[in-house]
Amino acid sequence: MKNRRILVKRSNCLIFFFQDGKFHYKNYLSGREFEASPVLVPILAQLDRWRTIRDIERLLPGYTGASIRSSLRRLIAHTAVVIKGSSASKREEELSAWRIWGVEARFFHYATKNIHAAPLTIDEASFNRALKRRQPPPPSVKTFPTRRQIDLPDPSPHLRGQLPEVLLKRRTHRHFGAGKVSLDQLSILLRLTWGFTNYIQWPGLGRLPVKTSPSGGARHSLEVYLWCSRISGLDRGIYHYRPDRHTLELMKKGKFAHRMDQLCGHQDWVQDCSVLFVMTTILARVMWRYRFSRAYRVILLEAGHFCQTFCLVATWLGLAPFCTAALDDEMIDDDLGLSAGEAVLYAAGVGMPP
Ligand SMILES: Cc1cc2nc3c(=O)[nH]c(=O)nc-3n(C[C@H](O)[C@H](O)[C@H](O)COP(=O)(O)O)c2cc1C
Repeated sequence: MKNRRILVKRSNCLIFFFQDGKFHYKNYLSGREFEASPVLVPILAQLDRWRTIRDIERLLPGYTGASIRSSLRRLIAHTAVVIKGSSASKREEELSAWRIWGVEARFFHYATKNIHAAPLTIDEASFNRALKRRQPPPPSVKTFPTRRQIDLPDPSPHLRGQLPEVLLKRRTHRHFGAGKVSLDQLSILLRLTWGFTNYIQWPGLGRLPVKTSPSGGARHSLEVYLWCSRISGLDRGIYHYRPDRHTLELMKKGKFAHRMDQLCGHQDWVQDCSVLFVMTTILARVMWRYRFSRAYRVILLEAGHFCQTFCLVATWLGLAPFCTAALDDEMIDDDLGLSAGEAVLYAAGVGMPP
């Protein structure tokens, strides 16, 4: 903190709260959280715009220069204060894309970005047994035993036919056969999941495209990118799907099988699938119409609809689908060159059945 010309400002991404009686602050963009003294608040309050060290000394006459500099060093290390021109300050500027939905949407999105710290390679069975020893799992059924119980007609005679059979057959697959998914199968998957299938008239907006899954306000904010590894008749690489023309746009050629498992929280079986589909949302498409933070839920719900459609189409095609939310969003941002206005949501993939 020797350079007196350095400009600093408090981070725009700070949240303050009490936890177990202690005062904490968290920077939701950097993910850093610290216990702090409430005395920090008036200091940070002064750092509402870019200031030099000399400005800060003038604003805080009760503190010595040395104590201000050492506090600033700590605050910068904690990412509570950012330096003008630093990569952290540039990242924060990009967050203006989230402004309309207030603090709550971006806090939740960024505070939960990237896979949790616990590795997915843990021994699932012993991990779950330990959890069970600590506390039994909640029951999977809720009942109202004192209320009248009404038997429903037996549906089994109606569970034949393509739709019920596909619904009943859908499972999550984590093992795949050695063959390749064909380009025809990929085309059907894309068309029936993410392609434009029709147009509707929307009041005041005119003709809007629709797809096989519903979308809040027909905003259709989702984009889909493909990491193709084993598709017959298609070069390995990363592609973007263009739903209006039903075409693929090649973004990067290359082998990404290992990268795919890294993107999915190091779930090593992912590298054996044929293609990984990553869904993102272009926030502005929804924000433009719905200027309140509850609309953030709408995009998450929409991604769920699309994923289920995808799993059912893949099952109908005789393929082995899966979905995963264990994503390293930042790695995907890097591969696709995404900015803060386009957020990673969900991934699904498919391979040949074993
Ligand atoms: C939002 C969401 C995230 C999921 N993430 C993962 C994941 O990271 N890894 C995985 O192996 N399965 C994942 N699954 C699949 C579930 O584990 C799976 O649905 C569950 O075991 C039930 O099996 P079924 O899909 O065959 O019915 C996810 C499912 C959902 C809905």
